[in-house]
Amino acid sequence: MRVLEAIAEMSSFSFEATNYDIGSERYLRDGTLVSEEEFDSLEKMDAIYFGAIGDPRVKPGILEKGVLLAMRARFDQYINLRPVKSWHPYVPLKQHFDFNIHFLRENTEDFYIGAGGKLVPEEMKHKMTIKRGMYTLDLKLKGKADPEDEFGFEIGILSKKGIERFADYSFKYAADNGHDKVTLVDKANVCTSIYGMQREIFQEKSDDTGIGLDFMYVDAMAMAMLVRPHTFDTVAVPNLFGDILTDLGAQLGGGLGMGASGNINPAGVSMFEPIHGSAPDIAGQGKANPFATFMAAKMMLDQLGHKEEGDMLEKVLVKSLDDGATTPDLGGALNTSRVTDYVVEQLRCL
Ligand code: IPM
Ligand code: MN
Repeated sequence: MRVLEAIAEMSSFSFEATNYDIGSERYLRDGTLVSEEEFDSLEKMDAIYFGAIGDPRVKPGILEKGVLLAMRARFDQYINLRPVKSWHPYVPLKQHFDFNIHFLRENTEDFYIGAGGKLVPEEMKHKMTIKRGMYTLDLKLKGKADPEDEFGFEIGILSKKGIERFADYSFKYAADNGHDKVTLVDKANVCTSIYGMQREIFQEKSDDTGIGLDFMYVDAMAMAMLVRPHTFDTVAVPNLFGDILTDLGAQLGGGLGMGASGNINPAGVSMFEPIHGSAPDIAGQGKANPFATFMAAKMMLDQLGHKEEGDMLEKVLVKSLDDGATTPDLGGALNTSRVTDYVVEQLRCL
């Protein structure tokens, strides 16, 4: 917030912030996550600036599904834009590549759709309803097996409408950014149904737009990111693989503390956040690298149409890195708050 305030002082950008008390402390206090009134009120905002989530005191999945994934689905933020670029010299690779991969992670479907459960001898059936802005899908699953057998399942689902809008966004994004191809990552050699369908639709859109399309299997992609990250520009990736590849990407670029992300609904409210979680192991020690959160602010400024202010912030962040004004994970000697002071000071010097 201090960085955003400094930008507002220096430019035509102005904002009014409303704070929402959402997260583990509240959950531990009263067992609630996000109320209907809060969803409604958040939906009316111009943008949501989201801090990191996760707390070892809360069972995995509760905050993730009840807060973060709920917002992405509820606000139909179907694109998760995750730039992966080289913050040289803060990169782990021996060979230096100057890369800038624009990851577009589909953000509402795939194995994140929430179609999971158990089939146990007493209850060999499961009913679920999946609600998205575009559709409501009622699913019934019925099984038959030996009485001693039990199963857990998590179904990956892609809808035709979901793929189409993802493909449209990807090709438009590539065109807007001067990229001549989209790389689609999947595992179409194994999960043939969902990713085969996705390939067909992307191919049609590529033919329509004249923008190239490359297919990559996710395992090969993980490898290629290490040896030739500079050969990728717009990369479209389904939700689960996108989660994994963008953590890999964040490390390649300079560490998890550097990766930011925008959950984008081009026609609604978008939400900006660091890729990393809440780093409970270093909580309260002042060691957390605030860079990813600042880069998330840059993405938010860009999305709100304040590209100039976004660029200004990025310039200052690059300068702070060049000056070695960093937290210890990047070899610096400053704590989180001092890094923020430094960035704010640099902004005021512009
Ligand atoms: C991310 C996170 C989330 C995800 C978790 C916290 C649900 O890892 O934003 O990448 O898996 O999408
Ligand atoms: Mn993740």
